[in-house]
Amino acid sequence: MQKRYFLRSSALAVTALVATYSIAQDNTFKIGLILPMTGQQASTGRQIEAAARLYMAQNGDTVAGKKIQLIVKDDTSVPDVTKRLAQELVVNDKVNVLAGFGITPSALATAPIATQSKTPLVVMAAATSSITQASPYIVRTSFTLPQVAVTMADWAPKNGIKTVVTLVSDYGPGLDAEKYFKERFLFNGGQVPESLRVPLRGPDFAPFLQKVRDLKPDALFVFVPSGAGAAVMKQFLERGMDKAGIKLIGTGDVTDDDQLNDMGDGALGVVTSHHYSTDHPSPLNTKFVEAFTKANKGLRPNFMAVGGYDGMRVIYEALRVSKGQGDGDALLAAMKGQIFESPRGPIFIDAQTRDIVQNVYLRKVERKNGQLYNVEFAVIKDVKDPGKAK
Ligand code: PHB
Repeated sequence: MQKRYFLRSSALAVTALVATYSIAQDNTFKIGLILPMTGQQASTGRQIEAAARLYMAQNGDTVAGKKIQLIVKDDTSVPDVTKRLAQELVVNDKVNVLAGFGITPSALATAPIATQSKTPLVVMAAATSSITQASPYIVRTSFTLPQVAVTMADWAPKNGIKTVVTLVSDYGPGLDAEKYFKERFLFNGGQVPESLRVPLRGPDFAPFLQKVRDLKPDALFVFVPSGAGAAVMKQFLERGMDKAGIKLIGTGDVTDDDQLNDMGDGALGVVTSHHYSTDHPSPLNTKFVEAFTKANKGLRPNFMAVGGYDGMRVIYEALRVSKGQGDGDALLAAMKGQIFESPRGPIFIDAQTRDIVQNVYLRKVERKNGQLYNVEFAVIKDVKDPGKAK
């Protein structure tokens, strides 16, 4: 009698355990955040992880009855590693969403996994136009290089810049920046005597800059990924390019807020086009910058942080709208068409392209309260990715 009782109660206990376990599983919503936390792109990982954690601290970790679990993985910005980690996250951890992606090759390598497993993949950093076409499950909250490069190509010729040499990192976003800047600048009557490409890994800018000095254009247009701007600026100044009358212009990646304050007075006056500046004057951004800086020992949020913060918003809102019941397709549907105010200004996830539509700003480096900032002086509103029209 006693034995039977024991058996029955332990069976009950096991059943209860299994039930508890599956409820715990059901009530967890997992976000696999794959980022470069070490290596050349580490600042991108640090910024995005900090922003994602800030978003969760501000908005709670429960949405539609689900407990949000953030699983952060370091891909060291090696695409094969990104892909393997994504596979493990989908198969073993059963994540509901994949997110992060510090560089274009990492996002492209992972796209087939999103498609096969029907898992939404939120690109928070990478910015080559074609990424969103690599899988119907990709949504982007960062920006595209064509978006910001054409804005600069419109501004420069109206401001006394008639000849430009371009210098870009030799991979996806650099090739986009070069192509879209050049096409629009030539259309606007400018001249591009030379287009230079530097390797992504461990670039030595010196011989390229020497060449630019010899060509003596009105300006040098630069795209390098976040984290590499300070090295370009340093060598540009060391070679006295500015004194030789060559202006430095580019997309805002080169005057990245993560590094700008340490670039020194030589950076003053540099004009770039981009979608986010730490100095963006809006009440929402002021609050965001204050909270981010406070939570991260004084670290200034850059455009990568904003891509991560808004990416979390897109995920939270999709979960809320699909009432926590949705599979990948339901989540994806609820990500499309989202429209909201970001610290960068108003943004919109175009339902057709799943890409971001946003304001692009022209900014000039100025000193404010003793610190260097990209100070916005003009805005082009609601810019779609020009890469999608082709
Ligand atoms: C990219 O690899 O797509 C990328 C990385 C860093 C940037 C912009 C684009 O600042």
